[in-house]
Amino acid sequence: MKNRPPALAPIGQARRGLSFIFCLLACLGLSPWAHAQGAMELAKTRHCLSCHAVDKKVVGPSYLDVAIKYSKDPLAKDRLAHKIIHGGSGSWGVIPMPANPQVSVEESKTLSTWILQLKAP
Ligand code: HEC
Repeated sequence: MKNRPPALAPIGQARRGLSFIFCLLACLGLSPWAHAQGAMELAKTRHCLSCHAVDKKVVGPSYLDVAIKYSKDPLAKDRLAHKIIHGGSGSWGVIPMPANPQVSVEESKTLSTWILQLKAP
């Protein structure tokens, strides 16, 4: 008698493979949502939302207006990330945005990416 592998082993393997794929799909599907949640939290904890709201002007422009204004500008992500950290004025009026040295370069990119992908419901 030869030693044969248990007949069910291949099925078990296939199952593991499948659940890996499902997990991958689920993670990919959920990540934009998780990303948006994370960025919103970041905007809160970095005090952006004391001057900004997603859908209305406060001291600074609404983030939806920012997204619309730069929707055709491929360099906007980096420019806005820079401005988030260093502040500036003149894009929306005379009120300047103060510098935000508490924001890291990586965080500034997360925030600018998030702002630029916002869409009116
Ligand atoms: C004290 C108020 C204030 C705070 C705090 C603030 N902003 Fe602003 N923000 C402004 C003002 C005012 C403008 C308009 C500046 C201009 O006209 O160039 C602005 C503009 C912007 C713009 C558009 C820039 C452009 O060139 O079009 C972005 C993006 C932005 N803010 C993101 C942020 C983020 C992210 C944070 C938090 C890290 C933040 N802001 C914190 C007041 C603020």
